[in-house]
Order: sequence, then structure tokens, then C-alpha cells
Amino acid sequence: MWRSVRRGLKALSRDGVVPSPNIWYHPDVYELENRVQDVDGEIWRVLGEEASWTGRTVLDLGCGAGFHLPKFAEDAGAVIGVEPHEPLVHKARHRVAELANIRLLGGSAQRIPVPDASVDIVHARTAYFFGPGCEPGIREADRVLRPGGALMIVDLDATAEPYGRWMRADLPHYDPAAVESFFARNGFRCRRVATRWRFRTRGQVESVLNIEFSPKIAAGAIEDVLRRGDEDGYTLPVGYRVHVREKPTGLVVPGHSSSSSESISPRMP
Ligand SMILES: C[S@@+](CC[C@H](N)C(=O)[O-])C[C@H]1O[C@@H](n2cnc3c(N)ncnc32)[C@H](O)[C@@H]1O
Repeated sequence: MWRSVRRGLKALSRDGVVPSPNIWYHPDVYELENRVQDVDGEIWRVLGEEASWTGRTVLDLGCGAGFHLPKFAEDAGAVIGVEPHEPLVHKARHRVAELANIRLLGGSAQRIPVPDASVDIVHARTAYFFGPGCEPGIREADRVLRPGGALMIVDLDATAEPYGRWMRADLPHYDPAAVESFFARNGFRCRRVATRWRFRTRGQVESVLNIEFSPKIAAGAIEDVLRRGDEDGYTLPVGYRVHVREKPTGLVVPGHSSSSSESISPRMP
């Protein structure tokens, strides 16, 4: 995380892809990280309260290795995973090979490779939509959504302790209030979600936190989590924000659209 953020602040690759070293260079550890996250399914509960995807078409933008695709596919009519990093597109394809209602496409938030008004839900989890700078992706999501469809953005809540404190220590310039007001200004509502990450072993704690934080912050975080151990493992409270905005079905209210922004590249936290 911290590496992606620092590099993201300095430079995007020419095609606008946000470097994501955690999943690009440590896909197996990131797979474990996805498995230990939100063990009570709180994010899924909130997403389901915000919009129904039963029988509908879901597009998971920046889907990585496709971890969340099968869950959407249980109820959705069709699921499309879109991911710019080719090795991850292959991994995701491999994961869902047996699931007939999922397909994978190479592409990015700024260029979603599907026609106008062809999906009902665009979901992005800890991918690209990190605040000011992600306007091109918001506009693309609006293009591909059917009227009444929803863009649902899931990201870490840097104000929630203790994980948020470690994020802020690694990202001194990140301003959580500015990010939240960016989404509010652009017509999103925000739900805060308290989750638990649950590790079985000390080794799991170490490997996951070492791909998310700088060595010094990771060392402190690991020590903190290990102190929270019980007889079955280790629990880490982690807060998320879920930002949701529907595409209007009728008259567009002036000021609601994000199309007035001049920014062209997402700035990572
Ligand atoms: C931290 S990973 C999260 C992956 C996945 N959403 C998950 O929860 O497992 C961030 C992902 O965003 C992708 N990404 C980077 N730049 C992007 C862009 N411009 N548009 C869409 N996805 C992007 C990365 O390649 C990476 O797969």
C-alpha cells in the first residue's frame, strides 16, 4: 500500500494505471490478505443494503486477481471483471474458468471496455478511486452505467484506529477529510464500515502487514496485532468507507455531475 501510494503520488504510468505493488508483486500474500479481511462480511452487507445486484450486470473495476467476482456471481445475472495489469487478468480468468456468468477484460477505470449504458453496478474495491484525480473514472462509470445504476467505491478509512493511524503515518500528506469532501461534492453518500481482519498465525500477520506498510510502520503494526492474540489467532479492527452514487434516471440536477473537473489523473492517498 505505502509503496503504491508514494509512487502514485509521483507518477502514474503513461496509460493512467495506478501502481499497486502489494498485489502486483505479492499476489499470493494479497490473496491471503483478501481471505483474512472482513471475516464477518460487513462490507458485503452494506453493499447489499445500498444496491441490489440480483439478476443484474455487475462490473468490478480494478478487480485484481478476481477475488470478489465469484461472490457477485452467486446472485448477479452477469459479472465483468476489468483489470489493467495483465498478469492479474490471467489469474482472475483462471479463478473463474468454471463460472459461466463471469468474463474478464483488460482495461482501466479511464477506459472501461464496455458499451454505454450496459451495466447496473460498477464496484471498485481499493482500486483507482482514491479521491481528487479520479474524475475520469467517475465519468467513465457514468457512461457505462444504465440510468439508475450505482457506482460503489470501497476504500480503507484512514480515520479508523488502529489501521488508519498506520496509514496516516506512512502517508503524511493524505488528508482523509479532503477525500471525503471530494466524494460528497461529487454527489456520493458515504457509509463507514467497521470490519475485523482475522489471522490464524503470526506468519500471516507478518506477511500481510509487511506488504501494506513501510518496514518501520509494519514492525509497530505487527507488534500491536500480535499483542491482540487469543488462543485461536489474531484480530485486527479495520475501518472502510463505502461511497455510493446512482446515475440519474431523469433530469440531471445542475452541479451534480462530475464532468466540470479539469483533473485528468488520479492522485493516490
Ligand atoms: C489493491 S488492488 C485491489 C484489487 C481488487 N479490487 C481486490 O480487492 O482484490 C488495486 C487494483 O487496482 C488496479 N488498478 C490500477 N490502476 C487502475 C486503473 N487506472 N483502473 C482500474 N484499476 C486499476 C491494480 O492493477 C490492482 O489490481
